[in-house]
Amino acid sequence: MGSSAGGGSGVRRTASSWRGASGRSDAFGRSAREEDDEEALRWAAIEKLPTYDRMRKGILLPGAVAGVGGAGQEVDIQGLGLNERKNLIERLIRTAEEDNERFLLKLRDRMERVGIENPTIEVRFQNLNIDAEAYVGNRGIPTFINFFSNKIMNVLSALRIVSSGKRPISIIHDISGIVRPGRMSLLLGPPGSGKTSLLLALAGKLDSTLKVSGRVTYNGHDMHEFVPQRTSAYIGQHDLHIGEMTVRETLAFSARCQGVGTRYDMLTELSRREKEANIKPDPDIDVYMKAISVEGQESVITDYILKILGLEICADTMVGDGMIRGISGGQKKRVTTGEMLVGPAKALFMDEISTGLDSSTTYQIINSLRQSVHILGGTALIALLQPAPETYELFDDIVLLTEGKIVYQGVLEKVSLSSLRPSDSDALRGKALQTSCKK
Ligand SMILES: Nc1ncnc2c1ncn2[C@@H]1O[C@H](COP(=O)(O)OP(=O)(O)OP(=O)(O)O)[C@@H](O)[C@H]1O
Ligand SMILES: [Mg+2]
Repeated sequence: MGSSAGGGSGVRRTASSWRGASGRSDAFGRSAREEDDEEALRWAAIEKLPTYDRMRKGILLPGAVAGVGGAGQEVDIQGLGLNERKNLIERLIRTAEEDNERFLLKLRDRMERVGIENPTIEVRFQNLNIDAEAYVGNRGIPTFINFFSNKIMNVLSALRIVSSGKRPISIIHDISGIVRPGRMSLLLGPPGSGKTSLLLALAGKLDSTLKVSGRVTYNGHDMHEFVPQRTSAYIGQHDLHIGEMTVRETLAFSARCQGVGTRYDMLTELSRREKEANIKPDPDIDVYMKAISVEGQESVITDYILKILGLEICADTMVGDGMIRGISGGQKKRVTTGEMLVGPAKALFMDEISTGLDSSTTYQIINSLRQSVHILGGTALIALLQPAPETYELFDDIVLLTEGKIVYQGVLEKVSLSSLRPSDSDALRGKALQTSCKK
């Protein structure tokens, strides 16, 4: 009996400091303390549950503002309603520009407090060559005659009787470099310089008909040692969506397809260590982390991404396509980005995500990505066309690509803005060639 009473007072003490952090004043007097006690008891009950149930139960504070409107209720994470989710996201991030950083810091602090570090990925590519073989001129046109003559020529060329008639095209030519974790890397280059090909190669999604040589490694592991498609996300240059689905459905579907990755295992370990150290997490952060880690509960992460990308206004509008009028072009571009951000991938390769967006929206999106990459230690290589100076300054590293070769790779501060113009990047290339010739 005695020991259980002692345990209860311990929980009570921690709980009041926990509620204190959410801004409740003592003006509420006894009733506030009673609510704290109630909540502490609820938390103690959740902590006693077996791991499987513990990961699916949380304490949800009522109302849109933390600490207002009575004690928290125990909720089943998988049964969160629309309003509950909305209130939760509203409490965590009121305005995306101001609160996102604070929210991400809270997530990191919760993990660091128990000594868990976010895993990071360093992507290296060495002597990467990408070549294509393609029919050119009339031979490339998909006519009935060409189809059969190309098939026959393929067989004859395999027997080394005639040449196939395909012309070799060098897309990426012997490039090496590193994409570091926790740093924003910008990929710049004129159209046709091989940006998409490089990003696809790094994400392990290159077309199998292309000839690839060289090494791409993630933390020193070659691509065949793991499944790169689960570790990295390539965000395409073109918006390909199912027109009949709404924005929310599109993101939720994508989240469900990608799964939760290692989030569940991380949370189990986090919860175990917190229990050992008798630490009570912030209830909202706890519910959020549980909701994004439990399989089949993708609505919370969808709501979060909708907020960050400013898509709440069109969340329930059809995406649309050539036949159905749907959301605007800029919103579609953001849906394409959001589709991959809802997943668990830590290495992001983004291809021209700002095309069709105004500079202010681009700035906000890149800024949110920057916060996430810097705070949670993600890896990001982002190709942009003509970024505005303020967006450009959000990056730490830069890769300049011209005609399949890297002209400059390194810290952004050392490149002057004038080098972003195509004419100047050509001049830079000239210089680089001169230096290599002298050597
Ligand atoms: N599968 C392929 N077959 C033949 N040529 C290809 C193939 N893939 C890419 N190329 C060629 O490689 C070059 C680089 O293409 P890539 O799409 O990587 O350029 P990019 O820098 O992304 O251009 P943009 O900014 O216009 O998107 C282009 O000249 C393109 O025609
Ligand atoms: Mg491209």
